[in-house]
Formats: sequence, C-alpha cells, structure tokens
Amino acid sequence: MGKLELTEQFVVGIPVIDQQHLQLVEQINHVIDAYSGGLSRKTIGHLIDKMVDHAIFHFGFEEQLQELSGYPFLKAHQKSHVQFAKRISDFQTRFNNGDDISEYINGLLVEWLSDHLKHDDSDYVALAKEYLLKHPECWCAFKTTQPCALNFTQAL
Ligand SMILES: [Fe+2]
Ligand SMILES: [Fe+2]
Repeated sequence: MGKLELTEQFVVGIPVIDQQHLQLVEQINHVIDAYSGGLSRKTIGHLIDKMVDHAIFHFGFEEQLQELSGYPFLKAHQKSHVQFAKRISDFQTRFNNGDDISEYINGLLVEWLSDHLKHDDSDYVALAKEYLLKHPECWCAFKTTQPCALNFTQAL
C-alpha cells in the first residue's frame, strides 16, 4: 500500500492548516502501517476513528476560515468534504464487516486527499492569507495571544 507524503506541492503556507494536513497524513499512514503490519482489528479500528475525527475537525476549521475570508466557492468545497466524510463512513462500515480495505485506503484516502490538497485547498489559500494578514492574531495558532475569530482550541 502506498503511503502519502506531504511534499512541497501540498504545502499551502498557512501554518495551522499545514499542521492539520500533516497530522491527517500521519494518521492515514498510521492506518496503512497498522493494516499492512497485521496489527489487531481493535488497534486499526481505533486509528481509523482517530483519523476520521481529525478529518472532520479539520474540514470544519477550514470551512470556518473560508467563510471568514469570503471565499466564493465555500459551498462547493463543503460538498467535497461531505462527500469524503460519506466515503469514510462507508469505509468504516466495510472495515467493521471484515472486508479487505487496502484498495479503499489507496483509492479513497490517499488519492482523494492528494487531489483535494493540490486542487481544492490550494484554491482558497490566497483569500485566506489576505484575511489572515488583516487579522495577524489568527495567523498562527501557536503564537496567538489575543482572541481570534477562529476556534483553535482543538487545533493545538
Ligand atoms: Fe479542504
Ligand atoms: Fe484541507
């Protein structure tokens, strides 16, 4: 199973978003390692749940940033996130039914995410950066000392 690498082409240049993407990629790779390493179903199931929780959190965070930035294709982007969330739940069901999920990991997780990062996420970045430049308190969650319109609590 091919693992996903967060190479330069995926880096958007917004620290908190890159950090969340990196976490997501690491979590997908943990699932791949656990699955191909033959770890227990309980462990794999736990890693899948963690990955799903983080993906859902990240999508909400990103949509919030897009809304604040006035990104005009928010609805379409949301649709893409919803589609992924639906596929993930199908993926979880298949895993719980004992099906072979290797193709799903490659096709759904790795391909979808690479494609989404490269095309969809890169599209909102310019406007988001403009917004963040006007709201420096939101620029980097790790340096935030003042209140900011974005909810970073789960991002840290
Ligand atoms: Fe996205
Ligand atoms: Fe994203």
